[in-house]
Amino acid sequence: MGRFEGKVALITGAASGMGRAICRRLADEGAAVMGLDIDAGGLDETVALVTDAGGTMRGRRTDISLVAECDAAVAECVDAHGRLDILGNVAGLSWARRMQDETEEGWDAMFGVNVKGMFFLTRAALPHLVAAGGSIVNIASNAGLMGQAYCVPYCASKGAVVNMTRAMAMELIKTPVRVNAIAPGGTRTPMTENFELPDDVDFDLMRPYMGFREMGTPEQIAALFAFVASDEAANIHGSILSADSGLTCG
Ligand SMILES: NC(=O)c1ccc[n+]([C@@H]2O[C@H](COP(=O)([O-])OP(=O)(O)OC[C@H]3O[C@@H](n4cnc5c(N)ncnc54)[C@H](O)[C@@H]3O)[C@@H](O)[C@H]2O)c1
Repeated sequence: MGRFEGKVALITGAASGMGRAICRRLADEGAAVMGLDIDAGGLDETVALVTDAGGTMRGRRTDISLVAECDAAVAECVDAHGRLDILGNVAGLSWARRMQDETEEGWDAMFGVNVKGMFFLTRAALPHLVAAGGSIVNIASNAGLMGQAYCVPYCASKGAVVNMTRAMAMELIKTPVRVNAIAPGGTRTPMTENFELPDDVDFDLMRPYMGFREMGTPEQIAALFAFVASDEAANIHGSILSADSGLTCG
């Protein structure tokens, strides 16, 4: 028996990187997965990977920055599967820009996905998670725990994820729902593969967040996610779990 046999998981960012790896891992361990992403093509690929391996997954093209879309996605998930046990808030936007080059549109887009989307999808899922005694796992970042030059809006949004996780955990502490965050460090995904730096960056300023060890893999984050979402982590609530090869320990 897999740890998630009979459980239903709703995972954002399912078309790529960590979200895809998390869908595969949870489905491998028996969950019925519904994946959300704005990228319909990538989502289809994830569904094919999961179902070809014998797992159960459906995808829904969803822009989580729109509250009505969050509500509709949760309703569709519960209509299809009758319950919701695990919410994985994985989708995120990230880029590097000098402060003076950031725009209002950029700020709103980043906060729309990283903060607002996470909050309103959680709001929609909450009654079902309470009914199931479920688990919420938010993907934060080492950027939510330290200051990174050229990443001010991203750091602000991930700092919000860190403290939103704690605030959710406090508000839900008398319910059976658990809320935690994983704070990955640099991880090999399309996000980092396509990362562009501003011209003439000062690498001295970036050194504190370049790290000393190799980048992690999405599968490592998926393994931690599966543990945190499982009953084995029953006493882990309101925690920010770093998986960053020591980036934030110094
Ligand atoms: N890769 C890293 O080094 C790293 C480190 C720390 C934290 N993170 C965080 O991990 C999470 C996953 O990142 P990843 O590296 O897998 O990136 P990724 O770019 O591979 O995947 C992110 C996914 O989010 C989706 N997305 C973007 N906007 C959306 C929207 N409006 N609605 C629905 N989906 C949307 C994208 O289409 C994409 O499929 C993000 O929250 C990211 O900030 C990444």
